[in-house]
Amino acid sequence: MSPFKYGCAVSNEFFCPRPELERRLREHVLSGQHVAVVGPRRTGKSSLVLETVRKVKGVALFHADFLSVRSRAELCNRLVASLSRLERTDSWVAKIMKALMRLRPALTVDPRDGSPAIVIDSREAESPGSLDCVLDALAAQTSRRKVCVVFDEFQDIMNVEDGENVLAVMRSRIQLDSRTPYIFLGSVRHRMLDIFLDPSSPFYHGAAMLEVGEIAADDFYAFLRRRFASGRRTFPRDAFDAIAAATRSTPGYIQEVCDALWQSSSRGDRLSSADIHKALDVIFAREGEHYAFAIGRLTALQVQVLTAIAVHGGKGVYSGDFLRAANVKSTASVRRAVQRLVDDGLVVPVSGEYLIDNPFFAEWLKLR
Ligand SMILES: Nc1ncnc2c1ncn2[C@@H]1O[C@H](COP(=O)(O)OP(=O)(O)OP(=O)(O)O)[C@@H](O)[C@H]1O
Ligand SMILES: [Mg+2]
Repeated sequence: MSPFKYGCAVSNEFFCPRPELERRLREHVLSGQHVAVVGPRRTGKSSLVLETVRKVKGVALFHADFLSVRSRAELCNRLVASLSRLERTDSWVAKIMKALMRLRPALTVDPRDGSPAIVIDSREAESPGSLDCVLDALAAQTSRRKVCVVFDEFQDIMNVEDGENVLAVMRSRIQLDSRTPYIFLGSVRHRMLDIFLDPSSPFYHGAAMLEVGEIAADDFYAFLRRRFASGRRTFPRDAFDAIAAATRSTPGYIQEVCDALWQSSSRGDRLSSADIHKALDVIFAREGEHYAFAIGRLTALQVQVLTAIAVHGGKGVYSGDFLRAANVKSTASVRRAVQRLVDDGLVVPVSGEYLIDNPFFAEWLKLR
């Protein structure tokens, strides 16, 4: 079995310790300070928060993920699902059903593990006051015991129609719940900053900011070398450095390359930076269809702009050179194309430059 994991939160032996971030987060949890955890995709925000909170004794973890949430009903149901997971007993589910009676809850099965789960009627969930009712049920728990509430991909609440109002309702509830630490995670930096640093936002100055970036290179290298050694592979430092350079040092992508290297090697092998192209072939074989699907949804012009960013980089995308490279006539067309690519999450703006979010997708585009 591969000792590497990617694409999900990691814990226990799959988690490389991040002592300084864990210490700061733990202190916030113990003091009841709200925290906004911000960082690019796949840097380990969810893993860090879940692993740290799990280790704090006497604190229950409430974790709701708002990734791609589109409506108030969906938002309420995500919160209800998390509430029903707070304890693992039949009497617990019955208790939550009762607390949500006004929203006509029904019992179903959690597809992930077959445990009982609750859904609320979608018409009721859309009704005004539904969110208050669900947050009341949560507050009934946080007033009774020590809970750390984690809202993941928090910025996606702004996708919900009337998202500002949803935020205002949440903020007013959170203000009344002074002993509970709330942790808000987000990977879309500018939207998280809008929520927490814009004076017109209900969450203005509502949380301490904690940035999560790359894992300290020496620590991560030592961790990964041990993982390879568990299967009798030697993983030299120059191979790690080459992978880090190819993945903008993003933990999730580094682990994905390591997993592919693992799959394409055998016990006793000494890996080298030259093996990375084999790992990329493994990744393209796994994910090529997703990449093809992603570009299949774009116009020809958007694909030209995306490919030009992959090949020439995303600095100066309105320059004459870039327009020529992308074979596009006007800056207005590039602007529209870039906007669509950003909206789709394929491209991210980072300090005046546009980057292709997934570095393997960028490599794949270069080879087309
Ligand atoms: N502390 C860590 N130790 C080892 N690997 C890690 C660690 N943190 C993150 N990773 C790697 O990154 C992947 C993504 O982690 P995680 O889901 O926690 O990141 P995230 O920042 O929440 O990502 P997303 O932006 O997709 O929500 C993991 O599956 C793992 O491969
Ligand atoms: Mg996450």
